[in-house]
Amino acid sequence: MKPRGGTKRQLKTLERILSKAGLGSRTEARQWIGAGRVKVNGKLIQTPDHWVDPERDRVTLDGKRVREEARVYLLLYKPKGYSTTYKDPEGRPTVYDLLKGVKQFVSPVGRLDLDTSGLLLLTNDTQLAEQLTNPDYHVPKKYLVKAAGLLSEEQLSQLRTGVELDDGPTRPARVERVRDGVKDTFLELTISEGRNRQVRRMLEAVGSRVRKLVRIEMGKLRIGELQIGTWRYLSGQEVAELRAQTRVHRPRPE
Ligand code: URA
Repeated sequence: MKPRGGTKRQLKTLERILSKAGLGSRTEARQWIGAGRVKVNGKLIQTPDHWVDPERDRVTLDGKRVREEARVYLLLYKPKGYSTTYKDPEGRPTVYDLLKGVKQFVSPVGRLDLDTSGLLLLTNDTQLAEQLTNPDYHVPKKYLVKAAGLLSEEQLSQLRTGVELDDGPTRPARVERVRDGVKDTFLELTISEGRNRQVRRMLEAVGSRVRKLVRIEMGKLRIGELQIGTWRYLSGQEVAELRAQTRVHRPRPE
């Protein structure tokens, strides 16, 4: 249980302090703590949930002081064939291979499938990341979809209204027909959830199949002119807009 007291200070778990210091993932932080490499005020602590006052307590890893680091926000144009995990179990390239020069440990905000390309936000701001991926905040994500076959207005209207998936019905989506090809339909599809393989499953539910999927927007953030495989820092304005987006649909407390 979180200790109570008269203080208004923000206590954090030891695991969180370590992972927010940008030295590694939460899993790695737990491993360091378990391995006895972490001390708080000179005392060995092996419980990841140990409460720490970041302003008062001195946390060390292998004897070196650990401090909370500045937050960073990156926008990467993820190419197809790159995994969004830190280490791919099958040895495939990961988005971290493209982030050379980034010193802080950043995590992707939501996943993109191996075969999906486009906008991937990465940050060490776990609070904003949680809000942007939580469906209760209704942050819109826009995709360009190349769908197999020539889709009828009826199929598009099913996508708009919501389709039944094995984990429940989808919320209404915005769907615009961009153009019809010879054998495919090009769509812009905007969803406010982020379930596993959602767009692919939605297209399958209306009898089609995704041939190509590119995420182009998240909230007001756009992939714009960024070259595939490259990244850039977000501007202060872009970060502020993402934060504002999470206020529009802030879920009410129970
Ligand atoms: N929907 C999908 O099906 N795949 C993605 O990568 C993102 C959204």
